[in-house]
Amino acid sequence: MKVLIVGSGGREHAIAWAVAKSPKVDKIYCAPGNAGISEYAECVEIGAMEFDKLAQFAKEKEIDLTVIGMDDPLVGGVVDVFEKEGLRVFGPRANAAIIEGSKAFSKDLMKKYHIPTAAYENFTSPEEALAYLETAKMPIVLKADGLALGKGVLICNTLEEAKEGVKTLMLDKQFGTAGDTIVIEEFMTGREVSVLAFCDGKTVKCMTSAQDHKRAKDGDQGLNTGGMGTFSPSPFYTKEVEEFCETYVYQPTIDAMAAEGRPFTGVLFTGLMLTEDGPKVLEYNARFGDPEAQVVLPRMKNDIVEVFEACIDGRLDEIDLEFEDNAAVCVVLASDGYPEKYDKGFEITGIEDVNAKEGYHVFHAGTKFSDGKLVTNGGRVLGVTAKGKDLVEARANAYAATELVSFANKYKRNDIGKAIDEA
Ligand code: AMP
Ligand code: GLY
Repeated sequence: MKVLIVGSGGREHAIAWAVAKSPKVDKIYCAPGNAGISEYAECVEIGAMEFDKLAQFAKEKEIDLTVIGMDDPLVGGVVDVFEKEGLRVFGPRANAAIIEGSKAFSKDLMKKYHIPTAAYENFTSPEEALAYLETAKMPIVLKADGLALGKGVLICNTLEEAKEGVKTLMLDKQFGTAGDTIVIEEFMTGREVSVLAFCDGKTVKCMTSAQDHKRAKDGDQGLNTGGMGTFSPSPFYTKEVEEFCETYVYQPTIDAMAAEGRPFTGVLFTGLMLTEDGPKVLEYNARFGDPEAQVVLPRMKNDIVEVFEACIDGRLDEIDLEFEDNAAVCVVLASDGYPEKYDKGFEITGIEDVNAKEGYHVFHAGTKFSDGKLVTNGGRVLGVTAKGKDLVEARANAYAATELVSFANKYKRNDIGKAIDEA
């Protein structure tokens, strides 16, 4: 089989690595890819939003399966374009990817189908949003409706901050049209868990759980980022929590989407908060998490291509997902200054020393080759994943491995997986 992967981050590197293990696959292409992905795939210079070019490439090269890694092309309808051309593609259509593309849509869906989530109201008028805040309880959460690279969520402790937030999102349009509608939501507290699940429109099968660390600095300080590290499984995602979510969250979500005429095929990512009143949905995403994929996929035993095909063909019920009985931790090595200002173009060394070890993977996020050398090319540069018999061992292995990799402005959080000690 020939497989095309669309995307260029650590998540797509992890997907490419998993696809490359499949005995069914002879050739992988990635658009646009990165330096690490080029180890398994031929990278082609087509952007993830160039749908017609991607589809044309898939036809020319007689691609058997295309896997879309990223949110933007999914929300923009890349799957619809591929399907119209008769091409096999893994991911939700635009009318289902809206579950990530519009927070107002996903909140209304949860309300209509009684899926547990924070209480909320949607607003298209800044005046009405400001009036609502006057009587609301603080802290409160404001969310831009549309895609905002995970940055359109403001947690406001005071009425002043919240009013300022409405201005930022709706009037100053810091996140563009993503802020035309906002969700104002009850502030919740609790542990966060990410659960990724394969879906074929009617059946949903969950992968092992994970937890992300979104803030840039230790102790969950600093700005929100794409994710500074992950661990899997989450010790807080107990059997009891899992059973609750299977009954009240995942299947009801897939059934709700089908009932709305928006069958969901692909990976449904549910961000949960384990509150005192039980698990509640923080958000949905319509694809693998990044860097959740970097800890979940290395633990998956199945042939991922078989699972992708079962989803596309509506026979996911025939698949038993299996995960190794161990743990994995991924520590992101970023460029100092990320997510704001940072320099790039620095030579990276030591990756081979990590990859040579059994159970270790360096997944590239922002790298490229320049004059034959591997150099940094983004804010998040690498994800260093290590497995261990348990989370404590996996964390020690991952942190030891980060010491083997060098580049001039290397930055990492030092407390990825610290929560494990409280479990
Ligand atoms: P989201 O993109 O909706 O997952 O939000 C990003 C992050 O903001 C989440 O991972 C949480 O840490 C935080 N967050 C979102 N919604 C809430 C909420 N209702 N209460 C408390 N924290 C929240
Ligand atoms: N790690 C969070 C995300 O992929 O959105």
